Amino acid sequence: MIILNNVVLRRGTKVLLDSASVTLNPGEKVGLVGRNGAGKSTLFALLNGTLHEDGGDFSIPKQWRMAQVAQHMPETEDSATDFVVAGDTRLAEAREALAKAEALHAADPDDADAGMALGQAYSDIADAGEHDAVPRAQALIMGLGFKLHELDRPVNSFSGGWRMRLQLARALMCPSDLLLLDEPTNHLDLDALVWLEAWLQKYDGTMLVISHDREFLDAVTNVTVHIEQAKLTRYGGNYSKFEDMRALRMEQQQIAHERQQEKIAHLQKFIDRFKAKASKAKQAQSRVKALARMERVAPLLAEAEFTFSFKEPANLPNPMLSITGASFGYMQEDGSATTILSGVSRGVLAGQRIGILGANGQGKSTFVKTVAHDLPLVSGTVTEGKGLAIGYFAQQELDVLHETSNPLEHMVRLARELGSAAPAARTEQDLRGFLGSFNFSGDMVKQPVGTMSGGEKARLVLAMMVWQRPNLLLLDEPTNHLDLATREALAMALNEFEGTLMLVSHDRALLRTVCDEFWLVGRGEVRDFDGDLDDYQRYLLDESKRLREEAKQANAAEVAAASAAASSPPKAVVPQASAPAPAVTASPATVSTSAAPAVDGRTQRQNDARERQRLAEQSRPLRKELASLDQRMAQANAEKSALEARLASPLPPAEIAEAGKRLKQLGDEIEAMEERWLELSEALEGIGS
Ligand SMILES: Nc1ncnc2c1ncn2[C@@H]1O[C@H](COP(=O)(O)OP(=O)(O)OP(=O)(O)O)[C@@H](O)[C@H]1O
Ligand SMILES: [Mg+2]
Repeated sequence: MIILNNVVLRRGTKVLLDSASVTLNPGEKVGLVGRNGAGKSTLFALLNGTLHEDGGDFSIPKQWRMAQVAQHMPETEDSATDFVVAGDTRLAEAREALAKAEALHAADPDDADAGMALGQAYSDIADAGEHDAVPRAQALIMGLGFKLHELDRPVNSFSGGWRMRLQLARALMCPSDLLLLDEPTNHLDLDALVWLEAWLQKYDGTMLVISHDREFLDAVTNVTVHIEQAKLTRYGGNYSKFEDMRALRMEQQQIAHERQQEKIAHLQKFIDRFKAKASKAKQAQSRVKALARMERVAPLLAEAEFTFSFKEPANLPNPMLSITGASFGYMQEDGSATTILSGVSRGVLAGQRIGILGANGQGKSTFVKTVAHDLPLVSGTVTEGKGLAIGYFAQQELDVLHETSNPLEHMVRLARELGSAAPAARTEQDLRGFLGSFNFSGDMVKQPVGTMSGGEKARLVLAMMVWQRPNLLLLDEPTNHLDLATREALAMALNEFEGTLMLVSHDRALLRTVCDEFWLVGRGEVRDFDGDLDDYQRYLLDESKRLREEAKQANAAEVAAASAAASSPPKAVVPQASAPAPAVTASPATVSTSAAPAVDGRTQRQNDARERQRLAEQSRPLRKELASLDQRMAQANAEKSALEARLASPLPPAEIAEAGKRLKQLGDEIEAMEERWLELSEALEGIGS
């Protein structure tokens, strides 16, 4: 069991958790959700021991073996297979123990103890799955979209995105009781995503996954923990259930808040009315105390919504690009070019919105990168329209950012680099204002990028791109790391963008909303894709079948066998207490434990509503009388003040007598009304509490 009790967690000047509590049970599949910068990754750092709580209590079973995806880019000459095999820490320990035992035994072959130890080491390494470690690793690697001939390639030879996939495979390779996944789908395409979902559904340890992908979360989680305003709230359901339950909770909180505000206003009125009156001072005093003691129900803070827009491009060249007889590819280390796409001849016109589709590894990024001048063209020509201004967003290479510089410095540097091409608004004040419009306000414009969250970095890259007023946007997976609200803001901004858009994304919602036509990159060429995204999904399935066939023909019998062996997650060493593993074929819906709470929630809601109604009915006549009393008291008081003013000036004796009489009468009336007012107030307070 993982327990957080009133935990406080700080980073820099920010308080990310403030007296936050939550309990997670063994075997639960937990989605950790919240806005960019809410503190999700930081909470993982607490769980894995990198950070310590600044207050409160945190506990996690000591004997648990933990697996997680390393966040850094691996730099090694090891082959992909060896790199992933090394992720099996249990096996690595057994290998190390065996090496030691062998050395001891070799030093003194007659030592019986050393002989025993060696025997034990052999048996341990067999238990750790030495015999099928390589095929297990290779099945994971292939599942994540690598090709057969890549299994032995050195890790260093892969691009950043693919190296991060190897990190993921390495984590999955490790038998674990607790699996921590921080946005595991960021570097995946649809194929690999679906494979990962299926794999995780079979995992039987405790899992915590951070993701901004609603469909993915729904498929693999049954508990959701939400970080908001430095608190943790646990919901017994997947992401969709969480959204429903949260809406309900917010509604209830809003009602509670409004009722409390009414009560506060009432008490305050009472205090104001009676505080000067000696006879009622005590009652007034007790209300002052009641008011001070009242625990305030927070008002509903609608999370600050974020929107942005692309500036109208300064000009729109038409055509934007003419590509003629072009080949695209990359350079090998020996200087030779590997061509991936060839014979490409096409034009890109002003205002076109092109979704670039293609199965994994077919060359989408290579194509876009080349157009963005990040890779040299292998052959042919690409002619650019006059005044073409490219805005290129390559999320996977966030290295346009400098870890030690802050957002403001980034903008200043960009303005300097662009020189006369930079927008006119470039004083520090302007740049701060601009950053503010991208939610980098106050302190954050001076926070080093290295300490920012993934989503914050992505938002900065986006801001830097928008600022340059591009007329051709080349976006390669722009939604990775972005939270849902920011994704929506991006979709809206793209829809209003007047220039040309070329978009690579696995975010189907985004493709659907912003693209009018699709190009398909595959089988060595770029062509129009006639059809919509559903057709494309079918195409992908066919394509992956075709690739599998190819792989088989390439004599993949070995790996095919391994696939079967490794189709299930490894078991942790420490046996899981009692939680029965869900059936392998169970769908997320049947695994979910949240059906019951949902029904309870509805009943509860109905009961609450009935109770509110009853109270409202009971208090209505009292409120009505109170309101009319307020009015009459105000009138009486006004008349009283007027009379007093008249009495202050010289008057005939008869009038003085009459006014005096009326004054006395008014005083009595007011007194009586106040008595009644008090009674009513007390009665209402009784009903309210
Ligand atoms: N060393 C630091 N100094 C100052 N602020 C920091 C430091 N480390 C993290 N932060 C801030 O703490 C906040 C939480 O960061 P964290 O990475 O946990 O967010 P997250 O919820 O994982 O966000 P995302 O969805 O973008 O990944 C961010 O606003 C980040 O800028
Ligand atoms: Mg994060």
